[in-house]
Amino acid sequence: MRRLICVLLGSLIASLSGQIPGVIPQPMGHVIGQNCDYSQAVFLVKNAPNGAFYLQEYAQNQHFLGFDFHATSFRIDPQAQKGKAVLEFERFAPQDLWYGQKEAYALRFEPRRIRIQYNEPQGAMYAFSTLLQALYSHPEGLPYQSIVDQPQFAYRGMHLDVCRHFFDTAFIMRYLDLMALYKMNTFHWHLTEDQAWRLEIKAYPRLTEIGAQRNSTQYGPYRDQTFDSLPYGGYYSQDQVRRLVQYAALRGITVIPEIELPGHSSAALAAYPHLGCTGGPYEVQAGWGVFDDVYCAGKDSTFIFLQTVMDEVCALFPSGYVHIGGDECPKTRWKECPHCQARMNQEGLADEHELQSYFIRRMEKHLNQKGKTIIGWDEILEGGLAPNATVMSWRGVSGGVAAAQQSHSVIMTPGKPCYFDHYQSRSPDEPLAIGGYNPVDSVYAYNPIPTGLSKPQEAFILGAQGNVWTEYMSSEAQVEYMVLPRLPALAEALWTPAENKNFMAFKATAQQHQELWTNRHLNFAKHLFQPQP
Ligand code: ACM
Ligand code: ZN
Repeated sequence: MRRLICVLLGSLIASLSGQIPGVIPQPMGHVIGQNCDYSQAVFLVKNAPNGAFYLQEYAQNQHFLGFDFHATSFRIDPQAQKGKAVLEFERFAPQDLWYGQKEAYALRFEPRRIRIQYNEPQGAMYAFSTLLQALYSHPEGLPYQSIVDQPQFAYRGMHLDVCRHFFDTAFIMRYLDLMALYKMNTFHWHLTEDQAWRLEIKAYPRLTEIGAQRNSTQYGPYRDQTFDSLPYGGYYSQDQVRRLVQYAALRGITVIPEIELPGHSSAALAAYPHLGCTGGPYEVQAGWGVFDDVYCAGKDSTFIFLQTVMDEVCALFPSGYVHIGGDECPKTRWKECPHCQARMNQEGLADEHELQSYFIRRMEKHLNQKGKTIIGWDEILEGGLAPNATVMSWRGVSGGVAAAQQSHSVIMTPGKPCYFDHYQSRSPDEPLAIGGYNPVDSVYAYNPIPTGLSKPQEAFILGAQGNVWTEYMSSEAQVEYMVLPRLPALAEALWTPAENKNFMAFKATAQQHQELWTNRHLNFAKHLFQPQP
């Protein structure tokens, strides 16, 4: 009787608040139904989509994305015969409301049967993830007739800078797992920088022989510390990259590589000094900052090099997008360089901003010919946008607004609140960060649609992304600390309709999920839901 009252009360609360306890991001909608207790069920799986690796993983290990029901409460058993419960997958039919919506799914609950409807395998995985999360927080049974769901924003990204500090493939997989748990679908992999070139390029082996190493381990603990001069390095082989791209794809995640140009290129210049305006010599930078030596925009050899690099990049990454950087490129060298000045004369370019625009457009043309669309940081607006470029707005939202007004697609990553290298609390015990302050509630409250756009212009805002620059994150544990709980907060901001968002409910679920993170040996910021000083 008491259990029944609890169940009824639980259902009432769920239906009143519009929340499904335990699930991040909150689904779009649900209907309350009879309580179905699956705690002893052995599920026979029917018609799982190809590549449903998560079912295999679950069947073999009783484990997926950190959920562990210890074999007794929920099992998916492909060997089970008749008489068991059924987990049945089916495609949405043309008459269904959600038909054709790439990421949509529905879950329908009956006492001995759960049906998952989906369009693409990605939607089926999201359904399974929601199911596990819901079961995890409802050991007494699920009080739903159905859950229907699809995201508000198509681009839900996480970025990782592997140049300021290097993170091995095992860590990247854990990062991808965490993204998948919260239905984030794009991994922006920042692979080249002043401090390192991390991607094997067969045509230019010195990029990793020289460019993947620097003489400083750069581990803090204080910003003004004199850095050591110990060697520090690492890179990804093309085989490793292929495996990671595949691993991500299975989890519904597209990997977008970033190859920085024309600035943030010291590591490439150190490897191939003829690519700079002065011819070098150059060093892989051992300290942080913005550096004057950049690719020469006047020499054709620069473009031959970069196009050859991009050809290998395009072959490695199936993503429709390649990120070309474009941020923070000083014009100091170009102003003095006879090659760059000759280029400006020859092309009729009014200033060095237009020279930068020429550079980006030339790279865009090459990448477009290979079927790729470029993304650049918002500086690519300066001197004129390349015709088909998508803009990543990071210096606030104005770049995103300007690009959308010019009918270009936009991904929002404004410093506030999308830079996860900024502090999460004002506690004096907070580990050293680069600066800024982006507490989890500000991330949760974020709406990627900026003000000042018309409705048709708003449609150019594809979504948003959390950026993880790692100058002050020298360990895996520190990266985890900076993204948890901000990653799930951003995931809900991007997935869930505003009317279903509720920070208090999110907070309660995020606290429950701390157990999942612990199961996966992930570090996280534990104090953020307590009152802040
Ligand atoms: C950036 O943070 N420099 C894009
Ligand atoms: Zn030059």
